Amino acid sequence: MMELCDWNKVESEEYKRINSAIKKTVEEIGATTGKAPTPGDHYLFDYAFIFSQIREFKGVRFLDLGSACSALTVHIARQGGIVTAVDLPGSVYDFASYFAELKEQLGIQITFSALDFCSDPLPKADVIISCSAIEHNGYEAIPQLVKNTKNALPLGGRFIFTVIAEPEPPEEQYAYSSYREDKIRQTFLQGFRLDKNKSNFDQFDTLYQRFRNQFPKYFYIPVGVSLVREDHE
Ligand SMILES: C[S@@+](CC[C@H](N)C(=O)[O-])C[C@H]1O[C@@H](n2cnc3c(N)ncnc32)[C@H](O)[C@@H]1O
Repeated sequence: MMELCDWNKVESEEYKRINSAIKKTVEEIGATTGKAPTPGDHYLFDYAFIFSQIREFKGVRFLDLGSACSALTVHIARQGGIVTAVDLPGSVYDFASYFAELKEQLGIQITFSALDFCSDPLPKADVIISCSAIEHNGYEAIPQLVKNTKNALPLGGRFIFTVIAEPEPPEEQYAYSSYREDKIRQTFLQGFRLDKNKSNFDQFDTLYQRFRNQFPKYFYIPVGVSLVREDHE
């Protein structure tokens, strides 16, 4: 499935329920560590999309690519997921200490792994998620990322992520790589299939305009992609 951010969906009962549960987790973290990034802005779409695509949590191995201090990854760990959070080595943020603090103060067990998800092999997982991180990498780096995710997942494993889409041609003030429907199909479907062959890209102009009305500062619209690892290239 490919789902462009639809603000009506963000305001649906399903997405509101997910976001309020994540906020509750954030409040609990905040009460203890004082480092609680609040879900808001376009993450209200990104987090709810990714979470809504996950079928099981308890005992399932999750990998969060480009996690930073994500509330979503903490919330997944809270549901019983066995989570490894991945972010770049040498970041100005000390992610390792952040996750160590969560463990020490709240008993939330998240393994942090400092690596580049495009070039480094990834730990094995059942579900790989990535929220608003892949678009920070050039198109040339993505085939290796797709290989890495394929190698890390079993057949039937899931790769669920959000990236951004822009009108053609992309507006240049953003140094992001953006993905329309064709580009998603060309780039990510090597060894994966769409979880459901469903897309709302036919409503691009309407959804883009609605998102821009909500957030005039962005020249893009987030898009969620839900894939299943399968047995052919
Ligand atoms: C906009 S932040 C998203 C944070 C997080 N996913 C969340 O939901 O709050 C993007 C993150 O992706 C990380 N990132 C981007 N490219 C990466 C790469 N190739 N390997 C590892 N981390 C990467 C950045 O360091 C940054 O922390």
